[in-house]
Amino acid sequence: MADFTSGFWSWYVAILSIISFIGVLYFTVRVGGKKLPPGEKVESMGHVWDEDLHELNNPAPRWWYLMFLFTTFWAMIYLFLYPGLGSYAGYLGWSQIGQYEEEVQAANEKYGPIFDKFLSSDLESLAKNPEALTVGSRLFSTYCTTCHGSDARGARGFPNLRDKDWLFGGDPENIKTTIMHGRQGVMAAWGALISEKEIHDTAEYIRTLGGLSADPAAIASGQKTFTTFCAVCHGADGKGNIQLGAPNLSDDIWLYGGSSKKIIESITNGRNGVMPPHQDFLGEAKVHILAAYVYSLSN
Ligand code: HEC
Ligand code: HEC
Repeated sequence: MADFTSGFWSWYVAILSIISFIGVLYFTVRVGGKKLPPGEKVESMGHVWDEDLHELNNPAPRWWYLMFLFTTFWAMIYLFLYPGLGSYAGYLGWSQIGQYEEEVQAANEKYGPIFDKFLSSDLESLAKNPEALTVGSRLFSTYCTTCHGSDARGARGFPNLRDKDWLFGGDPENIKTTIMHGRQGVMAAWGALISEKEIHDTAEYIRTLGGLSADPAAIASGQKTFTTFCAVCHGADGKGNIQLGAPNLSDDIWLYGGSSKKIIESITNGRNGVMPPHQDFLGEAKVHILAAYVYSLSN
């Protein structure tokens, strides 16, 4: 437990705790262990509450005193066995993270073989294996629906995984790579680099690529800007590039929206979609099944 910024604070906490224990024990024994001296009578100390509730001079009942002692000793034993006294790790060496890791390992040993047996099948045939797809669909519900939706149709900024349009490629191996290592689609903001008119015109030109209505006066100049600045990534015909995750702009499938307003927003502010890596989190066997499942959704 190296959470202290310096060894001093560990000692500070440990010594304060020990002094408190000694203090608590001292006062418990001193006050609670006291007996009424022989011959002395039980009488009121003169403090009265709620009309007739008197504070008497006799000690607390024995069981009450013993309970106090017991809880104090219990706390001392607890601090001896478990972490809590400064950075002392405790006699048992128990830790939350250790317990978590043990449980995860036990679960992996128990359930691992269920997933591992699919690793030897290639993705194409796994995508036709009903048992693998059932497992895949459960894994998808657990780990992927937060972003891609329970039906895998995505949402704004989160791609639909049921269509044939792929940012990073729809081959089984591409899909597996995406899930294993994650992906990042980076498009810089163009707002400061090209004028508002150029952005507007390019947006109109992009709409014509997808067969959408556009302002005819803007198209020629938009095409020029597109060829100069955008074609490097999105391709001369706007069909995108799966190496970069640059979307196809010539279909009517939009990651962030195809209205003039949304396209202008994409160009002006840039976009930066992040698909997190799952290799360490899920392990290859589960990712393998998920890749087959995702592939099956559109094939
Ligand atoms: C935190 C949100 C998040 C989670 C969780 C997530 N994804 Fe993604 N995923 C994204 C985003 C965002 C993208 C698009 C990245 C981009 O814009 O470049 C993406 C892209 C993808 C792609 C590529 C799609 C394409 O068109 O090429 C696949 C396949 C995919 N995710 C599958 C999964 C699977 C399977 C899981 C569950 C294990 C999962 N994702 C979990 C956010 C997420
Ligand atoms: C460095 C490569 C690169 C360049 C240059 C580039 N883009 Fe992009 N663009 C991308 C990537 C990658 C994405 C996807 C971002 C994401 O996944 O979040 C994207 C997304 C978009 C989108 C959103 C598409 C959708 O489906 O919602 C539009 C519109 C767009 N770009 C237009 C342009 C225009 C116009 C230019 C030129 C001014 C341009 N891009 C230049 C890489 C690029």
